[in-house]
Amino acid sequence: MCGIIAYAGANEAYPILIDGLRKLEYRGYDSAGIGTVNGAVHLHKRTGKVNDLVSYCEDKNTSGNMGLGHTRWATHGSATNLNAHPHQSQSKRLTMVHNGIIENHQSLKEMLEFHGFEFETETDSEVLVQLVEWYQIRYKLSTREALGRALQDVQGSFAVVLHDTTAKHQLLAVRRQSPLVVGVGDAEYFISSDSMTFDRSSESIIYLEEDVIAQLCYNEAPVFYSLEDQVVDQDLLPFDYKKVAVSKGDFESFTLKEIFEQNLSISRTLDGFENSDVDEITKMLQSTDRIIITACGTSWHSGIVAEYLIEKYAHLNVEVEYASEMRYKSHTLGDRDLVIGISQSGETADTKMALEIAKSKGVKTIAIVNGVDSSIARIADRVIYLKAGIEIGVASTKAFTSQLSAILMLTLLIARTKKSLTIAQVDEMMAELNKLPGYVSETLSSSKQMARRIAYHISDARSALYLGRGISFPIAIEGALKLKEISYIHAEGYPSGEMKHGPIALIEEDLPVVAVVNNDDSAAKIISNIQEVKARKAMVVVIKNKNVELPKGLADHVINVPDVPSYLNPIIQSIPLQLLAYYTAKLKGCNIDQPRNLAKSVTVE
Ligand code: AGP
Repeated sequence: MCGIIAYAGANEAYPILIDGLRKLEYRGYDSAGIGTVNGAVHLHKRTGKVNDLVSYCEDKNTSGNMGLGHTRWATHGSATNLNAHPHQSQSKRLTMVHNGIIENHQSLKEMLEFHGFEFETETDSEVLVQLVEWYQIRYKLSTREALGRALQDVQGSFAVVLHDTTAKHQLLAVRRQSPLVVGVGDAEYFISSDSMTFDRSSESIIYLEEDVIAQLCYNEAPVFYSLEDQVVDQDLLPFDYKKVAVSKGDFESFTLKEIFEQNLSISRTLDGFENSDVDEITKMLQSTDRIIITACGTSWHSGIVAEYLIEKYAHLNVEVEYASEMRYKSHTLGDRDLVIGISQSGETADTKMALEIAKSKGVKTIAIVNGVDSSIARIADRVIYLKAGIEIGVASTKAFTSQLSAILMLTLLIARTKKSLTIAQVDEMMAELNKLPGYVSETLSSSKQMARRIAYHISDARSALYLGRGISFPIAIEGALKLKEISYIHAEGYPSGEMKHGPIALIEEDLPVVAVVNNDDSAAKIISNIQEVKARKAMVVVIKNKNVELPKGLADHVINVPDVPSYLNPIIQSIPLQLLAYYTAKLKGCNIDQPRNLAKSVTVE
């Protein structure tokens, strides 16, 4: 979703802003803009990609040692040059970039229009910058005071950087429910919605607390104020560039690199689990009778896998909720419940809100996240970090398999705490888990060619059906999600037993049907479901463990994965499904790292 980068220092701002915008591209956006400050503000905004903005700027004035940049993912008003950020106040004195949503923008706009303000754009962000100017004029306030007053009127979420042309070297930055960090270098400041835009020049980092205004002036120490204009403290922490630096290496895309590094990312997740808040989590588990998992998209699919695993091995009831639906359910949450939020980014607004609801009811909360110091990590009582490394591809791959690995570790921790498995059983499963990175490497190399070949048979399809049973059912729906996200082929995932209750009507000659067959007691049943599909002349692709025998002629294409215990299958089976989606999207010439309309961190509800 929207991204912010701003700079104040001694260097030319333009290349820093463009570099930052390029690093933010992975989040998803439909227009980009910059404003550089050199006495006057030079504003340039374009729909399309950062490259379009760069071409547009070639013969424009982009000079200045200070500037603001933004990538916009349209919410209020379509993707147009005018609606792109930065936005300015009526007098052009104030320039602002904004992430988030001003929920009460309509009533604020009506009030401002009543007082004679005119608007150029359809955005909620323009309302905010105009509101600050209104406070400045009406109450003769400083920019900082006016910003603080305006934000007290605002309902919703925001990360904002504001510049006032009368305060030459100064930027103001503030956030609420939307990330914003400040990188501090040698007499220079970098402000961004994501610290991975910072380079080695940042020596320290400030994770701005909510509703704290940072006043950042070139060559001066930062000063922080509450919205009521009282000076407050903020921590300055050391910044480790190596932790956020990312590159594609020799791979053609970040997504492909992320798929192929899953042996390493899973290793890090498994090794890192013991360093999570394990003792405190164990204490929480002792007083837990029910787990409610809340998440969105791919992370929700991890939640369903968790439901199968925890119920089977740890004998605890698990419910899985779409985070966006959690607030519309009248859950009777009690003190023997535990709510677990799962999120790759740690910034998903729906998941954040669901955890906040749980917290407001006094329920224990855990976050399973990849995004270090993310909002969700900070909300939850305890955190399990995935340590998968930054995921740039918008479609989640390595973060998903790391979520599943962390869930397996958590399942064993619960089983140990609840004594639902013997120590010997836990040790045996642990020994298998330790072999997981090896199984993943084997699967990557054995399924690559086959996935590539099958992609040729899928790339012309208009739609596809994915089937699974038991613990492989969530893997089938995740496989379908991957295909639709990156190749734009319509795909549905179903529990295979449900097919006869409706989706069977869709089956026709050559429809690609991808079936995930597990080596457990569900195998016979899903095989008979595939027979129903084959009888209707669909094109059958089966993902199965080597040791599972299929009736002759049942499948048109088979991808064999290693013979692993069935609880490891969700991870192992995900790999050929990711590759299948990847190579199909590649054949279709899609922009795999940044699929249309999608955002990496969905920071609006
Ligand atoms: C994954 O491929 C998707 N881009 C999407 O479904 C994602 O999983 C969802 O938006 C939740 O994101 P989160 O894990 O960062 O909370």
